Amino acid sequence: MRSGPMKSATEYTAIAPHGGEIIDRRVPEGERAGRLEKAGELPKVAVGARALSDLEMISTGVFSPLTGFMGREDYESVVDTMRLANGLAWSMPITLSANDEEANGLKEGGEAALTDGEGRIVATITITDLYSYDKGHEAKAVYRTEDGSHPGVAALYRQGNTLVGGEVTLLVESPNPRPFPGYYYEPRELRAVFAERGWRRVVGFQTRNPVHRAHEYIQKSALETVDGLLLNPLVGETKSDDIPADVRMRSYETILDRYYPKQRTVLAVFPAAMRYAGPREAIFHAICRKNYGCTHFIVGRDHAGVGSYYGTYDAQHIFDEFEDGELGITPLMFEHSFFCLNCGGMATTKTCPHESEAHVFFSGTKVREMLARGEYPPPEFSRPEVVEVLIEGLRAQAK
Ligand code: ADX
Repeated sequence: MRSGPMKSATEYTAIAPHGGEIIDRRVPEGERAGRLEKAGELPKVAVGARALSDLEMISTGVFSPLTGFMGREDYESVVDTMRLANGLAWSMPITLSANDEEANGLKEGGEAALTDGEGRIVATITITDLYSYDKGHEAKAVYRTEDGSHPGVAALYRQGNTLVGGEVTLLVESPNPRPFPGYYYEPRELRAVFAERGWRRVVGFQTRNPVHRAHEYIQKSALETVDGLLLNPLVGETKSDDIPADVRMRSYETILDRYYPKQRTVLAVFPAAMRYAGPREAIFHAICRKNYGCTHFIVGRDHAGVGSYYGTYDAQHIFDEFEDGELGITPLMFEHSFFCLNCGGMATTKTCPHESEAHVFFSGTKVREMLARGEYPPPEFSRPEVVEVLIEGLRAQAK
């Protein structure tokens, strides 16, 4: 819809977007005012934080080839087979739910206006499907548990009872505030950045944490074999005990500045909500990064996991359920990494012969507790410059 300064997205990178083209579901500028006015007369569906983020991702092409929220056929196919109804790989349901009252006002073949937390209209949806769904079945298939204390499952259980499927049209500049505008790139823009730098092989790194030594080790090991690294921290909704995105962003700036070669690294935010779906989310994360132009994607230990719902390497094994070339993007798998006191350097269970007593390891919970007390984890675990930013940031937030 919107024509940007760049030409075809595929011209710039060695990898085609998932499904072939970058989707753009924004209303043309000239039609915006009229469409917004007309949308005022439509039945409304209030959209929560996660679906608002999904809307943004659909509209800007991060979720290509999706053009809207899933209809019944795609939804059931994704839940049961990890493929869209047309057979294309896709692992997470992307759905819009409506509560019973909202659903009563909707009909298939009709349109609805989507509103944000303040009641502002942000988009319209052309409704192809209105359908009920089995939350327990989705939980089991996608999250591998029906336990309501899993944060992704809890979010699913909070959803309305009817799903609304159909193409969306974004009517506003952005459905969400963009808190880190200097690091915000749409897929077309990021592809152009990679092209400008002459990168043909780019590895994407997902994270919801500060960059610790283990992250740095696997990123740099990957970078040894490709042209560039995309540090792509997720800044959408996360669990309340994850370190807030603004504090993390400062820590990324610090570590990149001190320890990474500028000409081989790009920092860009990933504005998606975290689902904590472990293996399924690893596939989903990889597909999104492919749309951004990455050719490779790092999957380490317990990717996108939470608690002990998933085995350490389940998020790697799931890639075996796809044929060669089905995903397009190449996963780079890494074993659990740590600093080994006997080796005197970073290593993994694959490269280090020593007992675990020699390995410097802290759980996420332990690190958060230390940071909250203003204590520095050892430099073998985290760069002191990073820890300083985190302690300061968390202190400021606690005030
Ligand atoms: S995630 O939810 O975004 O996956 P996190 O930010 O901790 O959580 O992880 C980012 C990436 O680094 C994931 O691919 C994860 O598997 C990997 N990773 C995190 N810690 C380690 C580690 N100690 N060893 C190997 N890989 C790791």
